[in-house]
Amino acid sequence: MQAKKTTILALQEKKSSGEPITMVTAYDYPGALAAERAGMDSILVGDSLGMVVLGYDSTVPVTMDEMLHHCRAVRRGAQSAFLIGDMPFLSYQADRAEAVRNAGRFLKEAGMDAVKLEGGKAMVPAMQAIGDAGITVVGHIGLTPQSSGKLGGYRLQGRTAAEAQRLLEEAEDLQAAGAAMIVLEMMPDRVAAEISRRLRIPTIGIGAGPDCDGQVLVLHDLLGIFDRFTPRFAKRYAELSGEMQRALGAYKDDVQGRRFPDSEHSFSIDDAEWAAWRARPDMR
Ligand code: KIV
Repeated sequence: MQAKKTTILALQEKKSSGEPITMVTAYDYPGALAAERAGMDSILVGDSLGMVVLGYDSTVPVTMDEMLHHCRAVRRGAQSAFLIGDMPFLSYQADRAEAVRNAGRFLKEAGMDAVKLEGGKAMVPAMQAIGDAGITVVGHIGLTPQSSGKLGGYRLQGRTAAEAQRLLEEAEDLQAAGAAMIVLEMMPDRVAAEISRRLRIPTIGIGAGPDCDGQVLVLHDLLGIFDRFTPRFAKRYAELSGEMQRALGAYKDDVQGRRFPDSEHSFSIDDAEWAAWRARPDMR
């Protein structure tokens, strides 16, 4: 039996009841199926796609078309998880009408339930406009990878009292602008805990300690598939990269040694049919 569709209200109720929200990224059909079968509340089709799947050096080059293509694949694999499409760099920053149109494409063309955008105060007009169009929007503050250049790299945010206060104000601004949830990335645990305590809407932490209302990890980090670098906050639950290498090496050795395919992985023709074919005058 298919599990019931998770709604934003169900996620918000989890905050009220103190039950942690589970979220993971996924970028394709098998990833979505695995997340769905594990019973994740929510799947984020993150623009981390650019780095862990497409091999870019950052999330900046990711395009709308790339995001929509992968969102559609995730949608086909996940019927019940709450699906969030990440708006790529420059799809919402330049003007509000463009932000609304691009946000709408995630729902109309890719079956997402919500969109996520990065940034604090400066993103309030875009967030409001998208929300006014009837689209559920998720915020993202702290380390915002699309602007990591401006932030001076992938660095811990909110280290000082002034920075912590700025993060709290940004979170409150986004909540007032209609954010349905907010991702808190790479900030001290006590800062994230205090922001989570003060907000009505759920916070989803990544590198933000245990006291957020939910947690998200990048699938390829937790499975150990992406090994170019692993952020300290990303716990590895498997080392699939090594396992993939081992399997591919074994396959290559079997082909070179003529051990693959064996009879178990081959098909046979009936002896009589074989004899009849061989007996044809043109086969002699
Ligand atoms: O793109 C992404 O995967 C994200 C998560 C790190 C929250 O935004």
